Amino acid sequence: MTRLLHVKATPTGPRSRSAAVAEAFVDAFLECHPQATLDVLDLSATTLPPVGAVAVAAKKNAISGTTGSADEAMSWQQTRDLVRRFTDADHYLFSVPMWNFGIPYLLKHFIDIVTQPGLTFRLDPRHGYQGLLTGRRACVVYTSGVYTPGCPPEFGVDFQSAYLNYWLRTIGVDPVIEVALRPTDFTGSLAADLDRAREDARKAAHTI
Ligand SMILES: Cc1cc2nc3c(=O)[nH]c(=O)nc-3n(C[C@H](O)[C@H](O)[C@H](O)COP(=O)(O)O)c2cc1C
Repeated sequence: MTRLLHVKATPTGPRSRSAAVAEAFVDAFLECHPQATLDVLDLSATTLPPVGAVAVAAKKNAISGTTGSADEAMSWQQTRDLVRRFTDADHYLFSVPMWNFGIPYLLKHFIDIVTQPGLTFRLDPRHGYQGLLTGRRACVVYTSGVYTPGCPPEFGVDFQSAYLNYWLRTIGVDPVIEVALRPTDFTGSLAADLDRAREDARKAAHTI
């Protein structure tokens, strides 16, 4: 059975523009794949395990095959649970606003948890990073208030899609289909732009 995981990186709930566009993707995807299951991971409504000293020690234990403290074992189990939820999916949908030229910190936190050697990537001394999530595809809905592709640098630079697309491909997810709604703030055509982005999202759902 096909599984779609929607990772919501915006905390704005029903007001979210990226989530509104993503909904159009979900509706079209479920039309194309009536048997598919949808898992929604709303990062702002989820308590992510901290990536602090204990989690870093737990990760090193896993790499070296050693047994650590009880706290480290519990931390590693929380990491494994989230990685499993992530890797169980066949397809991904991300709704991602630009925050200070990059991605929201909640999404970076999620990435720092699920990017694990041996689980989502392998590091080869000669060939570098090799993604383990091959065969999976993603659609990412990007929004930004001011930034728009081709704008002067005074209006922002895109470390949002540059970073997230790179990360997804590094862990093996390919293709990464982008749907953009930007800018959302200083524009007189938001309603029309939203309609166009929803249409782009529906098309992406048919091709993914
Ligand atoms: C903390 C924060 C930082 C933001 N930083 C940027 C930014 O660097 N560039 C930009 O164009 N918009 C920025 N925005 C605006 C959002 O990207 C924009 O409002 C977007 O449409 C929000 O999408 P959403 O409705 O899905 O949350 C920021 C918004 C917030 C809340």
